[in-house]
Amino acid sequence: MFKSMGTLGLMLLSMAAIVLVGLGFLMGPTHPLPWIMLTILVAIPFIHNKMISNQYITWKDEYSVGIEAMDNDHKKLLDLINQLQTAVHYYTSKEFEQKALDELIDYTKTHFAREEQLMADNDYPDLEAHKLQHQQFIDKVDHLLNEYQKDSDDTIVDALNFLKNWLVKHINGTDRGYANTLNEKDIYQEPEI
Ligand SMILES: [Fe+2]
Ligand SMILES: [Fe+2]
Repeated sequence: MFKSMGTLGLMLLSMAAIVLVGLGFLMGPTHPLPWIMLTILVAIPFIHNKMISNQYITWKDEYSVGIEAMDNDHKKLLDLINQLQTAVHYYTSKEFEQKALDELIDYTKTHFAREEQLMADNDYPDLEAHKLQHQQFIDKVDHLLNEYQKDSDDTIVDALNFLKNWLVKHINGTDRGYANTLNEKDIYQEPEI
């Protein structure tokens, strides 16, 4: 049910503060307790935002591979990861969570195909090794999707973390290999698909 212990803690703190505000005012408006609790209640949304902000990924120029079409794909992937992060963190409906997961996986597969076509068009020498990484990722995702169908609550956080970590690492690591090669050769072509 609760996918973040921090959020659960803040919810419990909010509930306790609301009760203590009520009890505090019973002791009289000059008693400091309700005012302290009201201050805590006002601060909780800011604490919550601070806690989750590092779970979202913001595009940085250093992520660029120097090829606009691929950068646009990678930016879209980060947007879809953040959308899934929101679906998971805010306990939205199962339908929204499933849709966010499907969109991310579908777009990842579309991007892989486009990227592989680009490498093939430019005779990139490490194409097969790169394709193998993509395929291993898809195999792992298929396994996670099977698990998700059996038990979505227990699987979704693992799936989100795996997708997020793998994709960011891949964009900043393996994708740089073809980017450097293609940019050095200056033989980049827009893929057909
Ligand atoms: Fe990529
Ligand atoms: Fe790639």
